[in-house]
Amino acid sequence: MTNTKILILKGSPREKGNSAILAERVAEGARLMGAEVDSIYLHAMDIRACDACEACHENEDGLCIIQDDMQDLYSKIDQADVIVIASPVYWFTVSAQTKLCVDRWYAYSGKTPNILKQKIFSLILVYGDSDPYSSGGINAIRFFEDMCRYLGAPIAGILYGSADEAGDILKQEALLGKAFQLGKKLASV
Ligand SMILES: Cc1cc2nc3c(=O)[nH]c(=O)nc-3n(C[C@H](O)[C@H](O)[C@H](O)COP(=O)(O)O)c2cc1C
Repeated sequence: MTNTKILILKGSPREKGNSAILAERVAEGARLMGAEVDSIYLHAMDIRACDACEACHENEDGLCIIQDDMQDLYSKIDQADVIVIASPVYWFTVSAQTKLCVDRWYAYSGKTPNILKQKIFSLILVYGDSDPYSSGGINAIRFFEDMCRYLGAPIAGILYGSADEAGDILKQEALLGKAFQLGKKLASV
């Protein structure tokens, strides 16, 4: 049994949508192995866009000065061992909710140590089209891989699948099984 801390960032406005269902399966697998899982529904949070004010790089405390729900999320990120991004594909990449959150990680860059470099990342992606190429899922995967490469942070798994109506993913037993196994794996990274 582990006490790995896993933070899941759910980037769909559909709280019970397909990416959220996969995220929940990951959480179940991880909890079974003793991990502590915190699952965040980004759409309900007040997360404003990074305004590139550079205060996070210039101020002595190095903190982002935008006073919104991201402040709470920064502490959760600080404490997490594993960060899972669960996003639908919107317009051939991750959702706006996901991107708003990740943009605010700019506050970590330039810090020594950059705490994000110490995390392990995983991606869950659902698109409506038939495959990762026609859907644009490939762009979201590329964004995620580039981010991890830039951070020098390891990727512990990328899970993706096709489903359109909310809940359609429940018909895909094999994918749900893979999500559960991914959760078990993330608990012991
Ligand atoms: C605003 C919007 C944009 C979308 N853009 C794409 C897209 O570019 N490619 C695609 O394959 N599906 C696209 N879809 C379909 C969603 O990816 C699909 O419905 C998916 O199941 C949503 O996941 P969720 O249930 O977790 O929200 C889009 C849906 C919406 C609402």
